[in-house]
Amino acid sequence: TGLKDIFANDFLIGTALGAEHILEKNKIANNLILREFNAITPENIMKAEVIHPEPNNYSFTLADKFVEYGQKNNLFIAGHTLVWHSQLPKFVHKIQSADSVRLFMTNHINTVAGRYKGKINSWDVVNEALNEDGTLRKSIFLEKLGEGYIKEAFDLAAKADPNAELYYNDYNIEQPAKRKGAIELIKKLQASGTKINGVGIQGHWSLKGAPLKDIEESIIEFSKLGLKVAFTELDITVLPNPWDLKGADVNQNFPGSPFMNPYPKGLPDSVQTELAQRYSDIFKIFIKHRDKISRITFWGVNDGHSWLNGWPIRNRTNYPLLFDREFQKKPAYEAVIKQK
Ligand code: XIL
Repeated sequence: TGLKDIFANDFLIGTALGAEHILEKNKIANNLILREFNAITPENIMKAEVIHPEPNNYSFTLADKFVEYGQKNNLFIAGHTLVWHSQLPKFVHKIQSADSVRLFMTNHINTVAGRYKGKINSWDVVNEALNEDGTLRKSIFLEKLGEGYIKEAFDLAAKADPNAELYYNDYNIEQPAKRKGAIELIKKLQASGTKINGVGIQGHWSLKGAPLKDIEESIIEFSKLGLKVAFTELDITVLPNPWDLKGADVNQNFPGSPFMNPYPKGLPDSVQTELAQRYSDIFKIFIKHRDKISRITFWGVNDGHSWLNGWPIRNRTNYPLLFDREFQKKPAYEAVIKQK
């Protein structure tokens, strides 16, 4: 048994996977995935730059394998993501006219969501459309199509795969200002008759933030809109972010500085305990609101594979997940299951 069994009556428990997992080269990782999780999200495999590298050329090999892996193992498959300003193929940034951007978006959604029609359980239709102050984020889609691109994207996805649940996904939308923007955006979609089933709060958090109050309030408020709430990319960095350090130059790489890798001998017990406490505080809220939450997905299987070893600064050693580099359960794992 694993997390998926322990929380079976509460919500799905997912993980992000990469090619290294679905190609089944790593038996240890694969055993762990199937023991612990019942939902999967492609970490990069379905992003436009990977799946749609040239205007009329799609690359479905990995995505097909990913979907096959999910189906074979009876996992909930979350598609990620159809419309996003980032990880776009280069050609998209060269498009000049609104009509051509619309054509790209239409073909992209029809082709990708259409190919996996009936196989994907939910789609992150639009990802990260908001700024921190709740206004709409600058992107080629907003620039050329105006704010209506969001509705267009959801309507296209609903048509391409009528059975998939459709989500709006973003980070920091638990924070009040950005949350307000998300609620407005969702209300507009609903008022115009557009299908939207859920909101995905990414959950890239740290030991100190997001505040628990914000997390709880956002679950309640989003759920009041009649939406399912999912935590779609949960991880907790134990390293400082450059923007949290007074006076630090974000563009500098800090080679050799203690800030790069403060824990060369591994995570000290005190921080391990802090991480466990933080995870248990968060899961306490998840359990309390289990009736509103559809899924909790971790952004990666284990610490060794986390993107936080390379972001926002390369070559760091981070410890943000429940399983360590040897695929063993960390104290945070035990803390999480104690919340049941
Ligand atoms: C990240 C991946 O984990 C990295 O491997 C990749 O280099 C960049 O993207 N928000 C999202 C995810 O919606 O798609 C991002 O994933 C993390 C932030």
